[in-house]
Amino acid sequence: MSNSFKTFLKHTAKDFHNQSVNPPIVRASTIIFKSMQDIRKMQNKAKKNPTGGHFDYGRQGTSTTHILQQILSKLEESYHTFLTPTGFGSVFLSIFSVTRPGDEIIVADPVYNPTRLLSQDFLKEFNIKTTFYDPHNLKTLEKSITKKTKLIFVENPGSNTFDFQDLGKIVSIAKKNKILTAIDNTWGTPYFLKPIKLGFDMSIVSATKYYSGHSDVMGGSLAVNKKVFNRVQMADRVTGLRLGPDDAYLITRGLRTLDVRLDRHRENAKKIAGFLSKFKNIKLLYPFKKDSYNFRMWKKYYSGASGLMGIRIKTKNEKSVIKFVNNLKLFGHGYSWGGFESLALHQNLREQGKRSYLKLDKDEHLVRLHIGLEDPDDLIADIKQSMKHIK
Ligand SMILES: Cc1ncc(COP(=O)(O)O)c(C=O)c1O
Repeated sequence: MSNSFKTFLKHTAKDFHNQSVNPPIVRASTIIFKSMQDIRKMQNKAKKNPTGGHFDYGRQGTSTTHILQQILSKLEESYHTFLTPTGFGSVFLSIFSVTRPGDEIIVADPVYNPTRLLSQDFLKEFNIKTTFYDPHNLKTLEKSITKKTKLIFVENPGSNTFDFQDLGKIVSIAKKNKILTAIDNTWGTPYFLKPIKLGFDMSIVSATKYYSGHSDVMGGSLAVNKKVFNRVQMADRVTGLRLGPDDAYLITRGLRTLDVRLDRHRENAKKIAGFLSKFKNIKLLYPFKKDSYNFRMWKKYYSGASGLMGIRIKTKNEKSVIKFVNNLKLFGHGYSWGGFESLALHQNLREQGKRSYLKLDKDEHLVRLHIGLEDPDDLIADIKQSMKHIK
């Protein structure tokens, strides 16, 4: 698959019926049939082959969403891939599918903040208990396992702090204890990491980011193995989380160039990481320095790195860090990432969901950079000119 991956993305989903290189956008609430017999025939097909794209109502999808599901299942090497209107919808669906009142889940401490809010605060009201583990000390994970633990939820690398974890070890701990696993793989995408192959039961990607790549669409994917398929299918049915065909089309179109864009994000980010690594007052949160635990864990599991990184800037003057961010000319300021353009954000981690294991000194300030597809020399020159503001 890895050799033909790039070629597959260019050649898949041609539509010889309509003679268009890309498949059409099929919009439908009613799926129309010529007779009742045809409806029954199709429903029987759906029963026999539930992943085969046999629909009798628009909420289940149309050929446009089915094509995207097929492409993603091939990339993920998964049994099936569910689609949701946002990436966070897929996070929710993964947890909702396999937990019930009285259960417990264990979640990586540096998860995306809405995932933390969902697990820590919201699920508590449904009598589902969450504990958080230290991504660099899996004893804290093992210690939290009880007879009630149903799911280990990983995000790799951790949001904002970019902690890389020993994914193989997490999977083996989970399997030994008969616990299901889910991973948010938005940073790496299955282009750089294939979680289902690694043994995870569920793999989440926010399609809003690199899949679409153009900062103009939202979507999510939840790839699953056969073991959890029925449970996720049931939850998918009762929640009505559906990706619209227009968004599915844009995501499919974005996927055509996923490899080209991610290769370039990686090259650009590597150059900028090299530049930033020379500063004494900056700690790079990106797999770059070979002697670090994060680098080793990245190297062990990933075939590449994407364009999102953090920098910890040491200074007593927080305002000067904000001034540095504001004075970048080629980096926009805004949430989300994964598009073609560079972005910079000052992240106040101390305010964002209280992490259990975060070690950020009081004179350290976090900036998140998304390295886009611009000329990296221009980006370096831009960072250089703005650095003079850091006092
Ligand atoms: C790691 C990660 N997972 C999930 C999401 C949620 O994706 P969406 O914005 O598509 O809901 C985000 C969004 O920033 C994210 O950074």
